[in-house]
Amino acid sequence: MTRKIKIFDTTLRDGEQCPGASLNPEEKLEIARQLAKLNVDAIEAGFAIASPGDFESVKQIAEQIKGPIICSLARAKKEDIQRAWDAVKYSAKPRIHVFLATSPIHMEKKLRMTPEAVLKTAVEMVKFACSLCPDVEFSPEDAGRSEPEFLYKVIGAVIDAGAQTINVPDTVGYTTPWEFGQLIENIIKHVPQVRAKNVTISVHCHNDLGLATANSLAAVRAGATQVECTLNGIGERAGNASFEEVVMTLKTRRDFFAAQVDINTREIYKASRMVSNLTGLVVQPNKAVVGANAFAHEAGIHQAGVLRARETYEIMRPEDIGLTENKLVLGKHSGRHAVAERLKALGYDLNEANLEKAFNKFKELADKKKEVGDRDLEAIVSDEVYVVPETYTLEAVEIASGTHTKPTARVKLLYQGKVKEVNVAGVGPVDAIYSAMQKITGVAPELVDFTIQAITGGTDAQGEVTVRIKENGRIYVGHGASMDIIMASAKAFLAAINRLLYARTNPTTLRQ
Ligand code: KIV
Ligand code: ZN
Repeated sequence: MTRKIKIFDTTLRDGEQCPGASLNPEEKLEIARQLAKLNVDAIEAGFAIASPGDFESVKQIAEQIKGPIICSLARAKKEDIQRAWDAVKYSAKPRIHVFLATSPIHMEKKLRMTPEAVLKTAVEMVKFACSLCPDVEFSPEDAGRSEPEFLYKVIGAVIDAGAQTINVPDTVGYTTPWEFGQLIENIIKHVPQVRAKNVTISVHCHNDLGLATANSLAAVRAGATQVECTLNGIGERAGNASFEEVVMTLKTRRDFFAAQVDINTREIYKASRMVSNLTGLVVQPNKAVVGANAFAHEAGIHQAGVLRARETYEIMRPEDIGLTENKLVLGKHSGRHAVAERLKALGYDLNEANLEKAFNKFKELADKKKEVGDRDLEAIVSDEVYVVPETYTLEAVEIASGTHTKPTARVKLLYQGKVKEVNVAGVGPVDAIYSAMQKITGVAPELVDFTIQAITGGTDAQGEVTVRIKENGRIYVGHGASMDIIMASAKAFLAAINRLLYARTNPTTLRQ
């Protein structure tokens, strides 16, 4: 009989901890809806105690998303666990995920706790979580570097205290597939409660050495039945095990793993695009499964082979991940219904107000551009729909630049009903715009990254600019799309500044 492998998605928690990936509650809800369409077993919706915004977001997902388990992370502290419960209790399937480090380095240097105190706290906090919630998961953080005997002891004790899922994290991505597989095998062998109580052994691997997917799969071979992962592999530092890689490997090599996942893989491509689009984290072209080149065959000999028999060079079908050619062309004669349907096909189920915003923007674009493609629509959604409340609104930008002209920008921004205007010189037109905006807003963040790319081919393509700015160690992302790349740059920078200003008044105070 094939074993079922549960997929626990942590895009909205660990994924969102990735520098610059912070999502607003509406964006998180949209991604959670897409995760439900993927039919994931569990959604880790956030870290409820991190900030009021994180709490609201987990609560909203628990209230609105039906199907998967909805989980919140909590440190092994009463106030964290209570807050997690207050957010997830609205779900039909709530879960609290308690974690406490068990490696010598974490216990000594981070927690400043003795192993005995860690064991006692883990048991007490799991008991407290179980008194509130019927489903409790426990993670011995940094399990990959923990002393095996101590790890077995903690795992046995928290199972006795009521935890039904034990998640084994390779927190720093240190282990190799052989070691990690062996660790899982040893846990199952040396902790009798795992078998006696039919506990789910889960794994959570980080990608510091590029081994997160391989380690997760080695764990599945060794007996793990839940994998924690994120879309596009986003997450702390080098990220987490990638959802699409884990799922498509288990599906494509079902023969090898003798295991099955209940994921609707045809929703993968949409989900990947949505996460990339809303976080501003670009997917590398050669990324396995969802990269732009994943199904592109360049070499003539490969093309000839694929045309004769697809299987010569393709081990998965593009349609298995929902990558289908869109034959429907949208243009200025397309109506609201057609636009709404296409947005839905791309995974965006917009409410009336947001659809109105997206449709108005679509009309504006279609007036200038003959064909509006999927990437254009995605850009409209991230630019116009999921935005934080604007402190400053872009009124106008005028540029003087050329071979013999010193680049200057005249920028007008609307602030509390009044237009503020400056004229500033720079080393180039984009630099001049940025300096002008800094002058008006009084915000002077470090510009960490500026990327510009054409959304589609052709000279009438929209340019899409993504900027990352940094203040007090936090990164804020802004997107801007326009057929005029100077305008796209101005929109992107202002969007990032508005996010920064919004975060100042709605701070995320705590990050794991
Ligand atoms: O990487 C890690 O150890 C975690 C835990 C909180 C599960 O994210
Ligand atoms: Zn993690």
